[in-house]
Amino acid sequence: MRILTGLQPSGKLHVGNYFGAMEPAVRLQDEGEAFYFIADYHAMTSSQDPVALRENVRELAVDFLACGLDPARAVFFRQSAVPAVNELAWLLSTVCPMSLLAKCHSYKDKTAQGIAANHALFAYPVLMAADILLYDSNKVPVGKDQKQHLEVTRDLAMKFNDVYGAGTVVIPDPIIREDTAVVVGLDGRKMSKSYGNTLPIFGEEKPLKKLIMKITTDSTPVEAAKPTDGSTILALYKLFASPSDFAAMVKAHEQGGVGYGDFKKQLADAYWDFFAPMRVRRAEILADPAFIDRVLAEGAMRAREEASKVLERVRRAVGLL
Ligand code: ADP
Ligand code: TRP
Repeated sequence: MRILTGLQPSGKLHVGNYFGAMEPAVRLQDEGEAFYFIADYHAMTSSQDPVALRENVRELAVDFLACGLDPARAVFFRQSAVPAVNELAWLLSTVCPMSLLAKCHSYKDKTAQGIAANHALFAYPVLMAADILLYDSNKVPVGKDQKQHLEVTRDLAMKFNDVYGAGTVVIPDPIIREDTAVVVGLDGRKMSKSYGNTLPIFGEEKPLKKLIMKITTDSTPVEAAKPTDGSTILALYKLFASPSDFAAMVKAHEQGGVGYGDFKKQLADAYWDFFAPMRVRRAEILADPAFIDRVLAEGAMRAREEASKVLERVRRAVGLL
């Protein structure tokens, strides 16, 4: 079984990205042949900044490896290392009705946010379908926000097979992470870059712990019992603490006598300890830049091999060969 997913290189990884995307991807490495890539072509649909693109790609590669992506088991590569994906995107676009793309939420949301309504942003789901179909992917793990893009992929794949013959492309199944709880940000809303309420997973200890001290709380006095429902501190602590430490903090909320400042300090320590092994791994990776280049080069080679087989089959089916 081939499992494929892409992650956009769009800045510092935060705790929401870790629990919502990286950690599940790392776990899935055990269940099949994982193809994981850095969606650099996709990132260019909303930002055209060469310096930032280079940096973000490098950073995502380092962070993903530090979080447990195992290059011995997974094929890890940059999307643009396999430019053949653009050819498949073109072939798919010849069977893609305009109306299918026009109804996509992500295009509507992004243009509403002020991102230029360029052709690439509109055609984004076709390139995404090509990413998936180019590697005969069976399972595609994604967050809820990508559900519609997976539906477009399946539609296009079925249409393509209708026109060019069954088996021309493999129809993939999404694995939608409905169950992963939304990680809350420092202000209690969903943690997201667009809200500026994120807690990065890597960085310097002092400023990161300081961010935790800024978590919004109510004005319950130290002696009084504190609400547990809707508590941002507890929601985040649950991700990092052992069940018994978590239960102890809930109890301390109910009993009163401990101030929010102390709870935040406990949270900051638990958060820092949780990511300690990944920080160590990250420092090792950073000390050996050739390692990152080697991993991405090997991944690209394996991805290209697979892609050329699939593309040859598709080219034959459509009459280009
Ligand atoms: P952001 O909202 O910060 O821009 P992205 O949209 O780039 O994050 O998300 C990348 C991945 O991380 C997606 O798979 C998404 O589902 C996941 N993710 C982002 N924020 C959260 C969150 N707060 N809780 C759970 N998963 C999240
Ligand atoms: N659009 C995805 C996101 O923003 C990233 C992505 C690009 C992707 N191509 C993909 C995910 C193919 C899964 C499969 O999160």
